[in-house]
Amino acid sequence: MHFKLLLVVSLGVAWSCFATTTTGQLNRCDPTKVVTVEACAKCHGQAVMGWRQTPHFQTFEKLHRNPRAKEIVKKLGLKGSIKRNDVCIGCHYTVQKQGDRLRAVSGISCESCHGAARDWVNGHSDYGGPTATKAAETEAHRANRIAKAIENGMNNPKNLYSIARGCLTCHTVPNEKLVNIGGHQAGSDFELVAWSQGTIRHNFLRTDGKSNARSSQERLRVMFVVGLMADLELSTRATAKATSKSTYGVTSAQRAAKVATKLYEIQQKIKNSHLQNALEAFAQAELRVGNAKQLNQIANEIMKWGNQFATQTNGAKLGAIDGLLPTPDKYR
Ligand code: HEC
Ligand code: HEC
Ligand code: HEC
Ligand code: HEC
Repeated sequence: MHFKLLLVVSLGVAWSCFATTTTGQLNRCDPTKVVTVEACAKCHGQAVMGWRQTPHFQTFEKLHRNPRAKEIVKKLGLKGSIKRNDVCIGCHYTVQKQGDRLRAVSGISCESCHGAARDWVNGHSDYGGPTATKAAETEAHRANRIAKAIENGMNNPKNLYSIARGCLTCHTVPNEKLVNIGGHQAGSDFELVAWSQGTIRHNFLRTDGKSNARSSQERLRVMFVVGLMADLELSTRATAKATSKSTYGVTSAQRAAKVATKLYEIQQKIKNSHLQNALEAFAQAELRVGNAKQLNQIANEIMKWGNQFATQTNGAKLGAIDGLLPTPDKYR
């Protein structure tokens, strides 16, 4: 398969805590719906403790003191405090509306990845009233509970695509000026398995609630492909935002093409119809400046197939890609 790499942003703030939408719009993590980590701690204490050890948490204490951060702000000609800066808060902080003010209340938090929770936090764990138990919950109630939470903005790990696209919306750094002038990298070596199974891993529900389970090999296979599909979507979107043939645009387009090549290699091994559809959509893409409409349409297609892949693929059937997955020594 051959990809048209003809080139390779906008200043607008991409608020980076999204609910998955069918249109592919990047919804901001609505500050009016943010309930903060305090609202999760009561029941997910272990996850909160783990989170406090991650760079996502620590950026809140460290970023505004970091000389590099001050230098970036200066280069971009921005004024005022980093925690109030429209550009930086989109990716480095969780913002809550308090009265008529927007305030950065923490670093990248539970809700940055799982969605602003006001409308789903009560329902997502309600087995059917205060005395109901998980064991006694009917299958229909469970399915309905999860579907409702997702409808109300939850990025549920049952659909890894919904979470992966959040990671990549920050980690592809889709901001032309921040890359070209500020010096952020347009896309790093982010890869979902390696980057989610190290310091940020917090799988306590599957165990006695005390130990942090590594995801099964079956799940990691799905996660690996899903991470690359979300990367393809978001790198294509990032390319769509390029306004000139400069570092940002070129790097974003190269990233998209490289990910597509990797996915093509995977497809040779797994022959999956959803992945096939995503690759066929991408094969039409002309990665050049001034082609936002086509590129965003293609990104929407990739998103559609990525969601289906994530929710319908049985990892037990993906053994053929085991050799491609990052090994535990690569986990961050
Ligand atoms: C009242 C206790 C409680 C609170 C508060 C709470 N949760 Fe949960 N959460 C649970 C329980 C119980 C489950 C397991 C539900 C199940 O069995 O499907 C869960 C499941 C989850 C899941 C995994 C869903 C899945 O199906 O795998 C995520 C993600 C999650 N919660 C995030 C959060 C976040 C973020 C907050 C804070 C905004 C939060 N929760 C607040 C009790 C709570
Ligand atoms: C589009 C998302 C995005 C925006 C907006 C953004 N950053 Fe970042 N920033 C990142 C990511 C992602 C990393 C981590 C890069 C990595 O590890 O690959 C990062 C890393 C950094 C680092 C390096 C941190 C360290 O510990 O060395 C600094 C400094 C920084 N950003 C400053 C800023 C400042 C200042 C602003 C506002 C002008 C800003 N960033 C806006 C995504 C963003
Ligand atoms: C709201 C934006 C945002 C989201 C969503 C996000 N990240 Fe990050 N992430 C960042 C920023 C910014 C940094 C750098 C923080 C710093 O060093 O100041 C970072 C740092 C990291 C690091 C540490 C990198 C290193 O150099 O070791 C890992 C690992 C990571 N992110 C993984 C993930 C994964 C996996 C997801 C999704 C499941 C994710 N991130 C979602 C913004 C985000
Ligand atoms: C950087 C993004 C990110 C952040 C921040 C984050 N999560 Fe998660 N969360 C994930 C991912 C990815 C998974 C699925 C991981 C896997 O399957 O290995 C997950 C899974 C979960 C689960 C299900 C785990 C299980 O045992 O099955 C719960 C519950 C959860 N998160 C709650 C939280 C809470 C509470 C916070 C805040 C303290 C939080 N998450 C912060 C990305 C994130």
